[in-house]
Amino acid sequence: MDKSRREALKQGVTLATGLGLAGSYGNRLFAIGKKTAPSDRVNLALIGCRNRGYHVLENHLKLADTKCVALCDVDSEVLEKRSAEIKEKYGQKPKVYTDYRKMLENKDIDAVIIGTPDHWHCLQLVHACEAGKDVYVEKPMANSIEECNVMVNATRKYKRVVQVGQQQRSSRHWQEIMKTIQSTKLGKLRKVEMWANFNYGVGGEKVSDSPVPKSVDYNLWLGPAPKRKTFNTGRFHGNWRMWWDYGGGLMTDWGVHLIDMGLWAGPVSGAPQVTLAYGDNLSFPDHARETYDTMSVTWPLTDYIMTWEHTAGTQNGPFDKPYGIRFICDKATILADRSGYKTIPEWDQQRETHQAEAEEVKRYSTEYDMHAGNFIDCIKSREDPICTVEDGRRVALYAHMANIAVRTGELKLQWDDANNRFAGSDKANQYIAPKYREPWVLPQV
Ligand SMILES: NC(=O)c1ccc[n+]([C@@H]2O[C@H](COP(=O)([O-])OP(=O)(O)OC[C@H]3O[C@@H](n4cnc5c(N)ncnc54)[C@H](O)[C@@H]3O)[C@@H](O)[C@H]2O)c1
Repeated sequence: MDKSRREALKQGVTLATGLGLAGSYGNRLFAIGKKTAPSDRVNLALIGCRNRGYHVLENHLKLADTKCVALCDVDSEVLEKRSAEIKEKYGQKPKVYTDYRKMLENKDIDAVIIGTPDHWHCLQLVHACEAGKDVYVEKPMANSIEECNVMVNATRKYKRVVQVGQQQRSSRHWQEIMKTIQSTKLGKLRKVEMWANFNYGVGGEKVSDSPVPKSVDYNLWLGPAPKRKTFNTGRFHGNWRMWWDYGGGLMTDWGVHLIDMGLWAGPVSGAPQVTLAYGDNLSFPDHARETYDTMSVTWPLTDYIMTWEHTAGTQNGPFDKPYGIRFICDKATILADRSGYKTIPEWDQQRETHQAEAEEVKRYSTEYDMHAGNFIDCIKSREDPICTVEDGRRVALYAHMANIAVRTGELKLQWDDANNRFAGSDKANQYIAPKYREPWVLPQV
């Protein structure tokens, strides 16, 4: 973005703040329903259009001060479909690309949304930062520890605004929960229990290899991941999550959302010191996957204990919730998911009264829109967004370390963050950085 446009965008935020509309919400009210001058508008591009990336783009396009100027996907069928939808719904005509590197040469683009499988996030973020674009990158921030480190360095080196797609941070009710816990009115936080049980976590039913669809550049889909002689839909669109080369299974896919809340409650700003994990594939042998269908993890933090459980292939869990989180404090427990939360007080036997107020909050969540709004505000103000690249790294590390503890058979791992290595496990250290397939090179930033 050129300097004069950046100054104009910044002035827009200053004006909104001056009108008493401080913070993300205020700025968004200011913009919605108004015609925006081109100089106030943030021009967006999307890489990876099939599912999540497109929905994130739509969250942004609800804002009057955004425009979609480019779409990129290695599947031309997806690209054509999404491009037609953008024209029909928003009257906009984005340029289309199959190679994101070509797209990043487009000087009209201010910011890029990355909605590709996890093994692509690092390269695409670094290249976007180098090209002077701001970035909204989906979670988990990357598919390995070292890629997360590189992404933090690139964001800071190139002074870019990077929002990570852990959108629960933008939700009012999660913010209320954090405030309540940190106020200590429920007593000391002792334990955070998290779980996520989803059918998709066991992968799809095994199917035979098939030809690469004509619309797909499979080599570019694989990118830095190992070459494959055959193509199988069980490892492709959506299903890539359950294969180590591209994703980390339920542990990273849902784990990062809930671990983010578990750490925020502290708040905990450090990387994990100790991870204890057990996992296995115990069910659905007719389904195709590598990642574990069953896992139990414990992270002993300095002030409280955090645990994670998943049993993929089941869709139920404690309190009849397929996923959820329980913050256990001395005087009460807060039970939460994306639809709201419940405060369940402990009983004081001596005084014969509850030790805290019982409360139930149900809320229609606007977190997706708010997260997009926060990103656009920060592009204009040049402040850090609500989920920074450091937040994305920290949370991804907790999830990756649980997978690494099981993959290595170590089951208990100790992390030395200052030296970016596991203490006492050469096996685990092999998992810190991925081996990129040529000609792709893990950036050194
Ligand atoms: N924040 C959330 O709540 C949330 C929800 C779902 C998914 N996600 C995340 O979003 C990301 C995408 O997930 P999904 O479900 O949309 O996956 P998907 O497989 O449905 O879509 C990925 C798209 O990226 C395209 N793609 C792959 N490599 C590409 C490349 N090099 N250049 C351009 N396009 C490329 C694919 O062709 C496909 O269209 C993942 O990181 C996932 O974890 C986040």
